[in-house]
Amino acid sequence: MSTSRAAYGRVGETERAAFRAGPVDEESASRLATNGLDYRRIAVDSDEYAGWLQSVARGFQDGERTAEQIAAARERSGYRRLTGVFDPQSPMDAPVATIASWLGELTVPGEAMIPSCAISAVTVAPTHRRKGVARAMLEGELRAAQAAGIPMAMLTVSESPLYGRYGFAPAGAGASWRIETKRAGWIGPQPAGRIDFISRERVRELLPVLHERVRHRRPGEIEVPGSHWDGFAGTNPAAEKTADKRAVQYSDAAGDVRGVAVYAVRENHDDFTKATVSVHYLLAETDDAYAALWRFLLELDLVAEVHAAELSVDEPLLWMIADQRAANVSVRDHQYVRIIDVVAALETRRYGGPGVLVLDVSDSLGIAAGRYLLEADEAGAARVRSLGEGETIDAVTVTLGVTELSATYLGGVSLATLAAAGRVTVTGAGDAASDALAKAARVLSWHTAPRLSIWY
Ligand SMILES: CC(C)(COP(=O)(O)OP(=O)(O)OC[C@H]1O[C@@H](n2cnc3c(N)ncnc32)[C@H](O)[C@@H]1OP(=O)(O)O)[C@@H](O)C(=O)NCCC(=O)NCCS
Repeated sequence: MSTSRAAYGRVGETERAAFRAGPVDEESASRLATNGLDYRRIAVDSDEYAGWLQSVARGFQDGERTAEQIAAARERSGYRRLTGVFDPQSPMDAPVATIASWLGELTVPGEAMIPSCAISAVTVAPTHRRKGVARAMLEGELRAAQAAGIPMAMLTVSESPLYGRYGFAPAGAGASWRIETKRAGWIGPQPAGRIDFISRERVRELLPVLHERVRHRRPGEIEVPGSHWDGFAGTNPAAEKTADKRAVQYSDAAGDVRGVAVYAVRENHDDFTKATVSVHYLLAETDDAYAALWRFLLELDLVAEVHAAELSVDEPLLWMIADQRAANVSVRDHQYVRIIDVVAALETRRYGGPGVLVLDVSDSLGIAAGRYLLEADEAGAARVRSLGEGETIDAVTVTLGVTELSATYLGGVSLATLAAAGRVTVTGAGDAASDALAKAARVLSWHTAPRLSIWY
């Protein structure tokens, strides 16, 4: 029986570097080797990097990278652990499959952070697909993270059905908005600060600083790699279409910058009063900054529609416009998380109410399987421990897979929804089943919906 561990704090550079330099998983390496494939890590500063990057671009049906793009990407890839699968019989000097990962911080309910293995750049060449290569890489990366003591993994996906089989769940939805500006009608606050246009270099300076101040507030947010900030700001020298970007900052009455919005305008040549604005990134440290930046965007002249994506499902913006039907909102899966260490993960987040739950967790990869006791107190903190063989506790019992437990982890998916969908079973300790479910759902709930403002 394991005892409860203290909740995690921040991730240090030593741990990040150790994970980057750590070995590939031996089980996956030997499985791939039986198919004649070589699974190995790639150094960012090695000659193999260019081939690795070209394979990633091809995997996502993108064009071949230029020497300038390779150089810019190499300069910005130092934070990642890169792995490739090579086929010695291939006539090309590039891997037939790729994966990247890095150790970063994920915000969980209660403004807490947990170390999490972010996974990205998963590709398998069309010549080698559907032979278990992606499975070997995903399982391999999860086992490598587990061996390094990392309690969580996370990713965003090109296709929804890919990752549930490895225990990942869409725990944070992303909302896309299309707002008819003429119809919306601003009824929100009119803050006293000012909006000013700023250069892209200024955007690049401000975004990471402001994001660092706010990311702990929203479950689902993660540390954003510098390469992403270059993308939003348009400061990657190899990026295309940076000239389209416009950026403004909001300064409060005291003159302190509290928010930034980056956007692009697409003209409508048939009607110059009906341009479309795409919001690339909007970051607000205060409610005033949020209101002022959205108002600015919704009141731009010659604009008929504003588009924005990767918003949360509970945007205050909906309550700042007179006609809610001016906003066409669509919601879909966005942030996927996967619990690796159940005790550490569940002790790090906070809970919606007090209660005692037994969680009977299954996991086809064996990583998180077990029976756990979660005791949440009035303040929303929980003690969690593994239950011993044959140990019985008279408490509400939730029987679920690691995918379903991961779905609830950021507080954005209710246990009641999963129960109604037949994905979890809740039995009472002397309670009617519906009372037991209500209790368990309340404990695992959270008051703020998750949000993740990037793809990775
Ligand atoms: C998606 C991709 C990585 C799959 O690679 P692969 O080596 O063919 O996958 P595997 O053979 O290891 O298949 C693993 C499992 O996923 C399933 N699967 C693979 N591709 C799938 C797809 N597109 N849709 C649904 N299921 C899929 C397989 O059926 C298999 O299921 P099982 O192991 O539970 O029986 C590959 O097709 C690819 O590179 N696609 C383009 C890039 C991309 O979308 N990458 C994902 C980024 S998030």
